Amino acid sequence: MADRVAIILAAGISKRMNTKLAKVLHEVCGRPMLWYVLDACRGVGVDKIYVVVGYSAEHVEERFKDANDVVWVTQHEQKGTANAVMCCREYLQDFDGQTLILCGDGPLIRTETLRTLIDKGESEKPAATLATAVLDDPAGYGRIIRDAYGNLQGIVEHSDCTDEQLKIREVNPSYYLFDNKPLFEALEKIEPDNVKGEYYLTDALALMIASGHKVVAVTAVRPEEAMGVNSRAELSEAGKIMQDRIQGRLMENGVTIVDPPNTWIDARAEIGQDTVIEPFTYIHGEVKIGGNCRVGPFAFLRSGTVLGDDVVLGVFTEVKNSSLADGVRARHHSYLGDATVGKDVNVGAGSITANYDGKKINRTEIGDACYIGSGSVLIAPLTLEAGTHINAGAVVSQDSINGLCKDVDKKE
Ligand code: UD1
Ligand code: CA
Repeated sequence: MADRVAIILAAGISKRMNTKLAKVLHEVCGRPMLWYVLDACRGVGVDKIYVVVGYSAEHVEERFKDANDVVWVTQHEQKGTANAVMCCREYLQDFDGQTLILCGDGPLIRTETLRTLIDKGESEKPAATLATAVLDDPAGYGRIIRDAYGNLQGIVEHSDCTDEQLKIREVNPSYYLFDNKPLFEALEKIEPDNVKGEYYLTDALALMIASGHKVVAVTAVRPEEAMGVNSRAELSEAGKIMQDRIQGRLMENGVTIVDPPNTWIDARAEIGQDTVIEPFTYIHGEVKIGGNCRVGPFAFLRSGTVLGDDVVLGVFTEVKNSSLADGVRARHHSYLGDATVGKDVNVGAGSITANYDGKKINRTEIGDACYIGSGSVLIAPLTLEAGTHINAGAVVSQDSINGLCKDVDKKE
């Protein structure tokens, strides 16, 4: 592997998001934005990832505390993107390799795009390569300025553009690959002479060109990948694009999604071959679904749900933190929370686990081939042996199972 590190900028206070939470912790399809950027970096291979944090830094570090390849760098005052990179100087000033720089608010970045950037760097050996995108609506983005021959001259931020420059549709999504040494030389020279009075990383490119370095811009970014998330509206827009990707990947893997726009599937979900997801299904959190299942319409699967193969969950069925073995059926209006359900169990319409006693969550264990009649309430903690038959409308507690209760028949 080439000597390569990544810097991710994630210190900014997001005024436009109107939030108390660090912007990069806002979630896109169930994962914080920063997760995707880290993942894309790891996909191309980097030795270390320096994440520059500032606003709400402790929450960001806590959320990613298991990331051993991350070095947290604090930017105390948000003086601009160039200043944020400068905060890494103590770690990187003598580093002689390549430095990938990305923004934590660009969750749609893909490893393939970074690979293009790196390949270009390897074939043409520039001191800096940036990926650009051409947008129908470039508002808000830094514009790519080229000369009459198409050579890159620099980047001008939206707020500093002339009327002519505002018409340029080629923008900077903030995906850069630099030779580290010339980068830090250029950073030293950046001045905050712009409308916002900030130190702009984008100025490093023109400064490098002026010092005789080769800088290359490749139009390698699809419009839907270029987006930086600066507002709640953009957060939901990024969520839609990510949702399309998640569903696209699942469909390629042999999952049928009957009505993609009316289905929501978390980025962490795993779904097996030939499973059918019916419309209005919401799958949230770490959920594993086996093969040949049928889920929905209107099913709600929450974190910790594990379904075996051939499971059928129908309309208004909610499952949380439960594992359902092969062949379980819960076709209508059920809630299974904190339960272990054995093979071929039938859960009748409207039956639920009463898993919370007002103080704590309790588990329900249901053995293989039990039959739970419609409208039953299973009061946890509860264990039903294999083959137990619960009549419709029963309220079942462990005491009623152990004692005499007319609602319970023990099947031989
Ligand atoms: C930046 C680029 C712009 C590009 C756009 C793409 C600059 C000057 N502009 O603009 O050319 O089109 O991204 O989305 O780089 N940050 C810090 N410390 C700071 C300031 C920012 O860590 O002092 C972080 C932010 O948390 C954010 C990222 O850097 O993750 C980008 O900052 P932001 O203010 O969102 O820049 P844009 O105006 O979007
Ligand atoms: Ca931004």
